[in-house]
Amino acid sequence: MTAAAPARAQDAASGALVFKRCAICHSTDPAKGPKIGPALNAVVNRKAGTVTGFTYSSALAKSGIIWTADKLDAFVARPSGVVPGNRMAFGGIPDAKQRADLIAFLKTLRK
Ligand code: HEC
Repeated sequence: MTAAAPARAQDAASGALVFKRCAICHSTDPAKGPKIGPALNAVVNRKAGTVTGFTYSSALAKSGIIWTADKLDAFVARPSGVVPGNRMAFGGIPDAKQRADLIAFLKTLRK
């Protein structure tokens, strides 16, 4: 995807809007502590279940997942399909473009 670079900022901007659906439960600022779910700053390539101060389901804590872009894409599409028994009460985002934009946004949250 050589054309991806110029579009990236725009994808992330769209993704920030998609993230509003997540922001009910997830902050992007670890200093504010977890909401209903763990903070999602720097989640890309992080090991699942490792935000200190958040109590995960054992399903997620023991999943062994590394949140690569591909894994995040699959999880956001259908959380219960990727981690059966997890406690995230969210049905998923069926639209692949919305998920791609969302992940572009998550990649901007490095720290
Ligand atoms: C209704 C609240 C809620 C919504 C909405 C929600 N989540 Fe979650 N999320 C959670 C909870 C609770 C967990 C922890 C689940 C567990 O421990 O099983 C979680 C866990 C996660 C994890 C795993 C984090 C880690 O540290 O391993 C990711 C990634 C994630 N959510 C992404 C998203 C994204 C992206 C969205 C929006 C598309 C979203 N969530 C929407 C509540 C929510």
